[in-house]
Amino acid sequence: MKYDFDKVIDRKNTRSVKWDLKKKDIIPMWVADMDFEVPDEVVQAIKNRAEHKIYGYTAPDKEYYDSIINWFERRHGFVIKKEWINYCPGVVPAVNMLIRAFTKPGDKVILQVPVYHPFFTAVENNGCEVVENPLKLTEDKYEIDFEDLEKKIEDNKVKVLVLCNPHNPVGRVWTKEELVRLGELCIKNNVIVISDEIHCDLVYKEYNHISFASIKDDFAQISAVCTAPSKTFNLAGLQTSSIIIANNDLRKKFFDVLEDNGIWAPNIFGIEALEAAYNYGEQWLDEVIEYLKGNLDFLTQYISKNIPKLKIIKPEGTYLVWVDCRGLGMDSKELHNFFLNKAGVWFDEGYIFGRGGEGYERINIACSRKLLEEALKRIEAAVRDL
Ligand SMILES: Cc1ncc(COP(=O)(O)O)c(C=O)c1O
Repeated sequence: MKYDFDKVIDRKNTRSVKWDLKKKDIIPMWVADMDFEVPDEVVQAIKNRAEHKIYGYTAPDKEYYDSIINWFERRHGFVIKKEWINYCPGVVPAVNMLIRAFTKPGDKVILQVPVYHPFFTAVENNGCEVVENPLKLTEDKYEIDFEDLEKKIEDNKVKVLVLCNPHNPVGRVWTKEELVRLGELCIKNNVIVISDEIHCDLVYKEYNHISFASIKDDFAQISAVCTAPSKTFNLAGLQTSSIIIANNDLRKKFFDVLEDNGIWAPNIFGIEALEAAYNYGEQWLDEVIEYLKGNLDFLTQYISKNIPKLKIIKPEGTYLVWVDCRGLGMDSKELHNFFLNKAGVWFDEGYIFGRGGEGYERINIACSRKLLEEALKRIEAAVRDL
């Protein structure tokens, strides 16, 4: 490996939301950012831009758009035209504004729960109503309940479906068959798909991410695909995402909302970082995925050997691991209190992801193996003390 992800970097007192919100000796494994240094080329691109010493409004150029177009074609076989790409600071603001663009108050938006919790607020912020299509846990993996999806879409005259692919928190990378079935249902019922693909690059070897819009033009015409280098390359603080919309009417609607909110000139360091990451970050990414797989195997083996009351739902993508903690026999509040105050580890509480999340916790494993081991030892000792 060229990169050393075992290197422990002190992130305390860096204004990090992950590390600086709690003062006690707690290992933070909650919010989705990584404890790894980004590729050198990204650091250099930011330094070069900083050296210019003038930081006025930005205008992305051909090289910027080419870096996005080439990345998605090379890594995902997703062929994008330049005019489909819209800058937005983040994917969460984008999901909020896409819902605003595609609905009117009172409309129904379907979410596949448990799911990334800001989706709920994005629906509610726009005066819309959430309709739930609960995912089904079959043996050890989650699946879409298509009968329920069809019925809910029809009964509620649903306007928008927010797809999470790869899915946070359950870790599924939806297959082509699943996406085709979902897309055909949406076409039949005039449902627009907002496909949040922010985790698309972080997929384990045996799996393959397929962008919803890349499957066929009919799907591209009913969808907006949210992408960003932020999860992939650990750049969340740079606030740069790309929202891909092939359909002219949908794109115009989104563009109008962006304009209403005064969003037009990208973050100056964000665009430099995006371009460098997409152009030069491929080896770093391949190695980070390998390291994460090592962490995942370590976590899985440690838990099955030493903390068998916990059960891992094996993720196909993302560095977020969904853990069934119901074997500890605690309610949601007790469970979180136990991990935080007894074990000294900070995870995301399962219930915040909506129905089906109670009794689960979401663990971010994008840290050094040493820190992961320390967290597991703490949990093992706390469980033994129960
Ligand atoms: C599915 C999903 N969408 C969006 C985000 C955050 O996007 P952003 O930081 O670009 O707003 C996350 C972060 O964890 C996420 O998991």
